[in-house]
This record gives sequence, structure tokens and C-alpha cells, in this order.
Amino acid sequence: MIAVAIDGPTGAGKSSVSKAVAKKLGFIHVDTGALYRAVAYKSIKNNLKIFDEYSVNNFLKELKIDLTFEDNTQKVWVNGEDVTGEIRTEEVSMMASNVSKIPSVRAFLLDLQRNIAKKNNVIMDGRDIATVILPNADVKIFFTASPEKRAERRYNELLAKNQKVEYNTILDDVIKRDKQDSERDIAPLKPAEDSIILDTSDFTFDESVQAVVNLIKEKISE
Ligand code: DC
Repeated sequence: MIAVAIDGPTGAGKSSVSKAVAKKLGFIHVDTGALYRAVAYKSIKNNLKIFDEYSVNNFLKELKIDLTFEDNTQKVWVNGEDVTGEIRTEEVSMMASNVSKIPSVRAFLLDLQRNIAKKNNVIMDGRDIATVILPNADVKIFFTASPEKRAERRYNELLAKNQKVEYNTILDDVIKRDKQDSERDIAPLKPAEDSIILDTSDFTFDESVQAVVNLIKEKISE
């Protein structure tokens, strides 16, 4: 099986680019952020005290998360409920960053991610794919772009979904999440030693897709 690991901060274009690349190459695209978002969504619903280890462990015992893939599109399920749309809010984004710092949450989601890569050719995107989840991935790419550019992309994405947002709030959230995701103790956001860094600040979407396809083709023909 071929595994492509794509990591990077919020708004760098990882997921949308990975999805398009997966479609071109006939791979499965796994957006692992959706898993942390699903945990976050349910934790908000349950009013979980995320700093209380006992409550978190009990919460995880009752939690079943699944991913399904159809027509190049991932769906995420929490205890049998399709939450694919519900997890895309700013509230869930921030909570996902909070719950992703909890070691038992990361451990809970580990096998699910690895098992998908065992059975499929995958492009998996997240924060720790090259460093922790798939350290032997065939291709490792780390996306980056300026915070302003990333906030702008996210702002346009949310506007297109008719969500009421302020650019400055999004920029603040982007900076806050970057800091939290890269400074946490466990599986922080960072490139692996052998990751290729791809700065997409001045790339159009199509240029980013082409750059990733080229990198994969180069690596795989080596
Ligand atoms: O990629 P995203 O914005 O949907 O991710 C939401 C949060 O989940 C992100 O702020 C950090 C966390 N996350 C993580 O810790 N590890 C991953 N592999 C993916 C996401």
C-alpha cells in the first residue's frame, strides 16, 4: 500500500488539496482533523469537563467513531450519527484543538488511522501523520502558508457556507490554534526530519494540487 502523509497548520490547504490529489490518483483521502472534531463535537454536546481525566476516560469508553469513504468523500460518524457537516464550525475547531492535547484522546484515535492506511492507498492529512501515525509513509509533505493567507482562505470558506464570521476573529483563531497545536507536549505540529516543506502562500489551488502530484510521482518512481 502507498501512504502519503500531509501535515501542516490550519488553513494551509491540506485537506482540499489532498482530496483533489486523491481523486486524481485513485487513493483514499483521510482528513484526520475530522476525528478530533468529532470528539470535540460530542464533548461539547455532553458538557464534558475536558480537564478531568476520569470524566474523559468514561466519555471515551462510550464513544465510537467511524470514517466511511464514498465517491472520494469522507463521512465521519459518532455513535452511529453522521456529523460530517456539524463539525465544521469555529466552536468545534477550537474545541478540537483543545481535546487534541489530551493523550488518551490521541491514543483512542491512533489505531483507527493506522488501520485505514493498512488496507488502502491513502493520502492522510493532519498534524502528526509523518511524525507519529505513519512514520514510514512513502511520501511526507508539510504544508505551510502565512497566517494572513490561511485566515483569508478559511474566511472565504466559511462565508461560502453562509456562516457569519469576522476576518480578524478568524486570524486570531488561526494564530491561537497554531500556537496551541505546535507547543503541545504530545505529537505537536511539526514536520518530520524527512518531510518536504511546501509553502502554498503564493500558489493557486491547482498549482498546489499539481505540486503534490509531482512530488508523489517523483518519490514513488525513485
Ligand atoms: O485539520 P483541522 O483544522 O480539521 O483539525 C482540527 C484540530 O484537530 C487541530 O486544531 C488540531 C487537531 N488535530 C490534531 O491534533 N492532529 C491531527 N492529526 C489532526 C488534527
